[in-house]
Amino acid sequence: MAIRLGDTAPDFTADSTQGTINFHEWLGSSWGVLFSHPKDFTPVCTTELGRVAALKSEFDKRGVKVAGLSVDPVSDHLRWASDIEETQGTGLNFPLLADPDRKVSDLYDMIHPNANSTLTVRSVFVIGPDKKVKLTLTYPASTGRNFDEILRVIDSLQLTSNHSVATPVDWKDGQDVIIVPSMSDDDAKGKFPKGWKAVKPYLRITPQPNK
Ligand code: BEZ
Repeated sequence: MAIRLGDTAPDFTADSTQGTINFHEWLGSSWGVLFSHPKDFTPVCTTELGRVAALKSEFDKRGVKVAGLSVDPVSDHLRWASDIEETQGTGLNFPLLADPDRKVSDLYDMIHPNANSTLTVRSVFVIGPDKKVKLTLTYPASTGRNFDEILRVIDSLQLTSNHSVATPVDWKDGQDVIIVPSMSDDDAKGKFPKGWKAVKPYLRITPQPNK
């Protein structure tokens, strides 16, 4: 069954390039990103995995653990890792899960039979410290993802989980945010001492509160 926002991320145990991982235990109290790619030794996937490796410090800074997954075995992941390092300039520095029996792929609905009956699509799940799913994304095999966008969403998710704000279109960390409509002006006065600009009564813009 499809996984929806707010669902508990299913737990599993799987082999990876960093040994056996029990997902919930491995996440601990961190945020997490679980993402699938269709196949090892394929061009778009090679660029994606290199990019995620290059962004490791950005994920670390945000307290986010990242794990990749495909239906290939660990032995293939490990052989492919040297190609990733050679061609993308950064070696795999996060676990790549092996799912040859499709246990995790089925649990997370990562195989979309009308796209491809055997390979995972490009799924992304962002998981909060409460193990709830905060974001899902699905891309086709032919389109590489933008992992800067994943980081941008994580910035928004982490901000909005701590403050009564939402982030507007194309928002980036440090930019103005929106006071949630459910908060009255009276309550907002206490919460947002820097004030706000009411473009409309329901559209109140305020500086990012944690900056
Ligand atoms: C790729 O990563 O390049 C790819 C993988 C599966 C199907 C098509 C492209």
